[in-house]
Amino acid sequence: MTESLPLTTVPIELVVNGRRRAISVAAHHTLLEVLRDGLGLTGTKECCLVGECGACTVLVNGMSVDSCLMLAVEADGASITTVEGLADGDGLSPLQQAFLDHGAAQCGFCIPGQLMAATELLVRTPHPSRADVEEGLAGNLCRCGGYEQIIEAVLAAAEGQERSAGRAAPTSDRADPAAQPDAEVAPQ
Ligand code: FES
Ligand code: FES
Repeated sequence: MTESLPLTTVPIELVVNGRRRAISVAAHHTLLEVLRDGLGLTGTKECCLVGECGACTVLVNGMSVDSCLMLAVEADGASITTVEGLADGDGLSPLQQAFLDHGAAQCGFCIPGQLMAATELLVRTPHPSRADVEEGLAGNLCRCGGYEQIIEAVLAAAEGQERSAGRAAPTSDRADPAAQPDAEVAPQ
C-alpha cells in the first residue's frame, strides 16, 4: 500500500499586475500553474511545458520568462506582469492595438506570449530593427504562421512609441504596487 506524503506549501508574496498577492504554493508548482490555477490569470497559456514555445511568457521584474520553467517559490518577492496587465482599463495598450490593426492574431493562442516578449523588447530596444524584432521573438512560436503580421505589428508599435515619446509611460511598470491592497489567495 502506498502512503501519500503531506503536501508541503510555502508562503510567498508576488506583485502581479501591480497588485500585491500573498499566496501559499506547493513547493513543486510552477509560476505558470500559480498564475493560471491559483490566481485565475488564464491569459498566460500552457502548452509545451518545456520552454520550447513561449506561450507561457510573462515578465518577471521586467524580464521575459517562460513561466512553465520557473517554480513559483523562485518568484517570491518579484513583480510579475501578465497579458492581463497590459491593457489600460478597458482600452488596449498601443502594442495590443497594433496587433489588432495588423491582423497579427489568427487563432490567438500564442499572442499573449508574443505580446509579453514584445513588451520587454520595446522597453529594452525602443527603436528595434526588423532583425531585432525577429531575434526578440525567436522564442515564441506561432503555429498559425502569422510571423510576418506579428513583426509588422511590433515595428508599428515601436514607431508609435517613438512619435509619442515623452508623453506615454511604459506599460510594464505602469501600476504602483504600493498603492494596491494586499490580497490573500487560497493555498494551491
Ligand atoms: S508552455 Fe512554457 S515554453 Fe511552452
Ligand atoms: S495566432 Fe495561432 S498560434 Fe499564433
